[in-house]
Amino acid sequence: MAAATDSLPQFPLVPRIEGRILIGGKIQTSGFERKEVVSHSFHPGAPRNDEGGTVLGTTPNIGAEKFMEAVDAAAVAWAKGRGDWPTARMEERIQAILSFRDRMLAKRELVCRLLMWEIGKTWPDAQAEFDRTIQYINDTLEEVKQLDRESSRFQFAGGLVAQIRRAPLGVTLCMGPFNYPLNETFTTLIPALIMGNTVVVKISRHGELFWDALLEAFRDSFPAGVANIINGRGRQIIAPAVQSGKIDVLAFIGSSKVANQIKLAHPQPHRFRSILALEAKNPAVILPDADLDVTVAECVKGALSFNGQRCTALKMILVHKSRAQEFTKAFAAKVDSLVRGMPWDPKVSITPLPDPDKPQYLQSLIDEAVKMGGKLVNPERAKIEGKLFHPAIVSGVDLRSHLAQEEQFGPVVPIREFSDLGEVEDYIVNSPYGSQASIFGNDPVMVGGLIDRLTNQVCRINLNSQCQRGPDVFPFTGRKASAEGTLSVFDALRSFSIRTMVAAKQDTEGKRIIRGILQDDSSRFLSNNIVL
Ligand code: G3H
Repeated sequence: MAAATDSLPQFPLVPRIEGRILIGGKIQTSGFERKEVVSHSFHPGAPRNDEGGTVLGTTPNIGAEKFMEAVDAAAVAWAKGRGDWPTARMEERIQAILSFRDRMLAKRELVCRLLMWEIGKTWPDAQAEFDRTIQYINDTLEEVKQLDRESSRFQFAGGLVAQIRRAPLGVTLCMGPFNYPLNETFTTLIPALIMGNTVVVKISRHGELFWDALLEAFRDSFPAGVANIINGRGRQIIAPAVQSGKIDVLAFIGSSKVANQIKLAHPQPHRFRSILALEAKNPAVILPDADLDVTVAECVKGALSFNGQRCTALKMILVHKSRAQEFTKAFAAKVDSLVRGMPWDPKVSITPLPDPDKPQYLQSLIDEAVKMGGKLVNPERAKIEGKLFHPAIVSGVDLRSHLAQEEQFGPVVPIREFSDLGEVEDYIVNSPYGSQASIFGNDPVMVGGLIDRLTNQVCRINLNSQCQRGPDVFPFTGRKASAEGTLSVFDALRSFSIRTMVAAKQDTEGKRIIRGILQDDSSRFLSNNIVL
């Protein structure tokens, strides 16, 4: 596997791609509408459209009927739990994932270039996303072997002998976000597949074309219908398919509004399982004795890595009034020194935003915050150039403003000073979100006390460091409107399966039948074979 520091081959442009879809083991090139995929990055050698964007190609924009075809293909492969994939031995599924991983590795450079062009990820970040995904696959394979080893043991209780294994749930709809369209989608797709579910992936609204480079790998690694990859406008195609009742599991990383719409469309919500990672408003709390250098460096990374487009980004900075002035000055100096430009330039960290409406939205948040008494700290540097939004810092933000309440998901950093930790606690307790927080400070008594005030509000507290999801072996979850279920290498295998057991009386007859099944290897489920 190449390191995430590979330099970009001379000219970064990708070949034009006419995206395809994969349904029931067949790659389809026509029979649906298409939409143009336009990058907001530009290169002197690349052709540009009338609005100044770089046209990368087209992506399928399928309708509700075609989407239903994909759901039906997954339902046929599931076959009410009797399909080859859901009943396969773990070893067979591991082999399929391994062969997919190797085919995917062969496409590394093209996938990374497409990520860079489509969503403006810098070249090192695009590679890091790819490599992290391969690592996630490898870690999942190791974890599933461990799970298999543990499940092959027999348990004895109440006069019974039992084997408890994990079985798949059914047809799974996987939808990832545009900021990590590869990695985050795969953190649900891979565990769903390895546990024996069949899957339909609905590609995110940006970060679409790299999927095309992987279609053959999916087709050639999995039985027909096990992995179906489609693209279209979610609002038009998902609800009718969910209403059919043929989708058993929703794995969605996006907004709570969309999650609610999808969940409410199911005819029997009680049997529609969901694993969700949604919005967040992660605060940084800066205490009076915080180390300035560490705090500034972590807050810059935390608030502005990938232009602030991370669910784990720091989206509100709460600083003690005794440090507010020096923190804001040092923070603004560092933010203003970030180089802005195109994602293939090795010096650049701030890049064009993929969402065409985002600059206007961010500007409206700033305008309102300023009207409510806030101050734009860096007016010389904070500007909009097309889709390149130069980071803006707003201090004195009113906690009732949209900038303090909504997930901005972009390069605008709100700062609010506090004099009493009760104000911080009130803000966090009353937030509709509950993902993570960062505490910057060094007094064990004060930091320890604040940890205890926050542990029932968020699911990860980072000390003197930014918020982040990784490493992916750690639980990634949230309270309130931020998540449902938990994702990590370990948890995802459990989220996409259900414990299922075979039990017999622990008497002579019970032992005889179990021994006989094991000796004859006559069951794929009840077995003491372990995957090595
Ligand atoms: O967008 C949410 C991602 O899971 C964040 O992951 O903290 O590793 O950037 P990260």
